[in-house]
Amino acid sequence: MKLNLYLVGFLGTGKSVVGRASAQELCLRFIDSDHFIEQRAGKSVRAIFEEDGVAAFRVMERWFIEEGHPDGGCLISCGGGLILPPGMLDLVKSKGVVVCLHAKAETIRERTKDSNSRPVLNVEDPLGRITELLEEREEIFRQAGNAVHTDHRSIAEVAAQVCDVYRQEQRSALK
Ligand code: S3P
Repeated sequence: MKLNLYLVGFLGTGKSVVGRASAQELCLRFIDSDHFIEQRAGKSVRAIFEEDGVAAFRVMERWFIEEGHPDGGCLISCGGGLILPPGMLDLVKSKGVVVCLHAKAETIRERTKDSNSRPVLNVEDPLGRITELLEEREEIFRQAGNAVHTDHRSIAEVAAQVCDVYRQEQRSALK
């Protein structure tokens, strides 16, 4: 069976669009963790944050990674905060190949400015918030490894690099 591919990275780095394109190219089933959790909870991520709180959302993300998705053959686009709680990055790494998308704060602001579905950016100064969160989360995303940069690059270009990394990792896992 093909290894799962987990796409991680800060929100707005393109995990969903790049994930869909890469999944198609690699013949993997695309799953978006936010979308999956929304379906299961019967409400939006925004409503989960408002009604149940961020801690409850992180519990749902952990459940999804531990037992809520198939063991192989999937590309999983992970919510931007999914690998933050202690142990989550190691857990995700134990399940398959991890690739981390990166972007600058300005790029992220530009990509997310028309969306109101991200509760963490629902503040007066979204760029300031993005900069602050990027700093806070920098270390964990560095530890994720397999960094792919997305600033000023097309979806096709980024997806091609993601696929290359996956194929290399899959080959070395088989050795
Ligand atoms: C979050 C990122 C979002 C979503 C939730 C929390 C975060 O995912 O899981 O709003 O803490 O960074 P995307 O990266 O898909 O926007």
